[in-house]
Amino acid sequence: MSVKHFLNTQDWSRPELDALLDQARAFKQTKLGDQLKGKAVALVFFNPSMRTRTSFELGTFQLGGHAVVLQPGKDAWPIEFDLGTVMDGDTEEHIAEVAKVLARYADILAVRAFPKFVDWQIDRQDRVLAAFAKYSPVPVINMETITHPCQELAHILALQEHFGTTDLRGKKYVLTWTYHPKPLNTAVANSALTIATRMGMDVTLLCPTPDYILDERYMGWAQDNVAESGGSLQVSHDIASAYAGADVVYAKSWGALPFFGNWGPEKPIRDQYKHFIVDEAKMALTNNGVFSHCLPLRRNVKATDGVMDSPACIAINEAENRLHVQKAIMAALANP
Ligand code: CP
Repeated sequence: MSVKHFLNTQDWSRPELDALLDQARAFKQTKLGDQLKGKAVALVFFNPSMRTRTSFELGTFQLGGHAVVLQPGKDAWPIEFDLGTVMDGDTEEHIAEVAKVLARYADILAVRAFPKFVDWQIDRQDRVLAAFAKYSPVPVINMETITHPCQELAHILALQEHFGTTDLRGKKYVLTWTYHPKPLNTAVANSALTIATRMGMDVTLLCPTPDYILDERYMGWAQDNVAESGGSLQVSHDIASAYAGADVVYAKSWGALPFFGNWGPEKPIRDQYKHFIVDEAKMALTNNGVFSHCLPLRRNVKATDGVMDSPACIAINEAENRLHVQKAIMAALANP
């Protein structure tokens, strides 16, 4: 029997996702449980984190388990992922051994591995996560690679709480690109598009130019999702019409895919669109809309102080919900 991982929400059925959200609501009411009693979780971080690391470690503890954090290349040996390599470079051990050994100690492995931002055709293979899933005989959780499925569930839970219903169909949802001085990962944008369409919302992807449209895999998932859920999907480069009447504004910055590996020419293009910042004037165009962001967020670059400090901002609720949804995911995977 193949092991069930949590790599992308798209791999999970809608009833399974709804059950995770219901369990997360229950964990929010009752903090402690024994679903991970006597169990261990290995958290493997190739990139920095504040929310993800803290919420996974504390969530494991609150369910009676123990979490171990490893940072390959820092406090653990650097790992080789290519097959057939003569390992005479910097890597000290192969993922084939790492995943199997960790699985002898831990009941769940979780992985954060951002793209390298050099060649999108390689990055889009999600090779680190795929290799852990291939070699691990225990469940693997995606803690953000080229998607961020834990963030997706936390985001949806926060929206369901805000609107007082689990049925988000028909809500006008704007995923807006925002400026950032560096080209960032597309993971949260891919994920927002995926889950918002899955929930049947009417989704607008607002970005400066066609170069900022997301990878065809995630645009395709979104198209599949709207066909199933009855939502809709459109791309816009016009700020005013995209914000008009919106119920939800979700902001994220990301680098333009055609410039992966050659970011020099992208910077002056990106610098022309600092006005995509989420501000009070744009939010005033919405239907008393709610604002959120995955965090971390650079204030007065991605969103203004006024928006972040307004009652419309539910980013802190979303961050809190990371704890609850991840406990639900771990409890489900550890007790199939
Ligand atoms: N949103 C999120 O994943 O935050 P961290 O990068 O701090 O983990």
